[in-house]
Amino acid sequence: MKPKLALLTGAGMSAESGFSTFRDKGGLWETHPVEQVATPEGWRADPELVNNFYNGLRRQLVDAAPNAGHRLLAEMERDYEMTIITQNVDDLHERAGSTHVIHLHGELMKACSSTDPADPRHIVTLPLDHLDIRPGERAGDGSLLRPFIVWFGEPVPLIGTAAEVVSAADALIVIGTSLAVYPAAGLIHAARPDVPIFLIDPNEVGTPRDRHVHVIRDVASRGVATLIEALRQQPSLHSS
Ligand code: OAD
Repeated sequence: MKPKLALLTGAGMSAESGFSTFRDKGGLWETHPVEQVATPEGWRADPELVNNFYNGLRRQLVDAAPNAGHRLLAEMERDYEMTIITQNVDDLHERAGSTHVIHLHGELMKACSSTDPADPRHIVTLPLDHLDIRPGERAGDGSLLRPFIVWFGEPVPLIGTAAEVVSAADALIVIGTSLAVYPAAGLIHAARPDVPIFLIDPNEVGTPRDRHVHVIRDVASRGVATLIEALRQQPSLHSS
């Protein structure tokens, strides 16, 4: 049986694909106030401004490519049973070839009802020839069509599933997240006390004091290559 790895990825995972992170210097929340573009209140105040923000990111996404870090994680499926829990709304893990990806904060390529964003009947994938959500465009239930993004103050429907994945894992790997946003950041506490936790980030990230975390202080691409070597040294992570 292959050892089970749970991964928690954040904006730093996609930085080498050209995406700004949120909280680093010059990050997205510096140029686009979070309350304007990532809250239900911001949406109600100015849906067009919010749509324009995500339309721009979506256009950037279709021109972007997975980086070496994404690709290495996909290749690791040969040796490990991998589930990637990502806070990222891009689809770069999937495009690199990862097959088990949980999007905690939604998906940029999708749009949904603004009355009930989680209603699967009204979640649509935006095709390449219709990338923008246009002013006044409607979802299947007649409400304004909105980006399929979990905004601040909204429930995170997949958090329970993600916690189950982490608690069943033989190791937890955290990549490119400041661990500043809950409930995602709390997933680290779902890891069993005996399993190793690895963290890849070029900057210092606060982690729970009661857990030993193996820190790889590097960017995602090189960090994942280092991680692969480190996992080979862990006797608990050899296939049985
Ligand atoms: P942050 O911007 O808070 O954190 C990004 C992390 O990536 C930081 O710890 C950086 O040091 C690290 N980083 C920067 N470049 C990197 C690289 N090349 N390789 C690896 N790491 C790098 O982003 P998140 O933690 O993902 O939510 O933010 C979590 C959530 O907050 C997002 O999903 C988003 C945001 O508000 C919503 O929009 C709902």
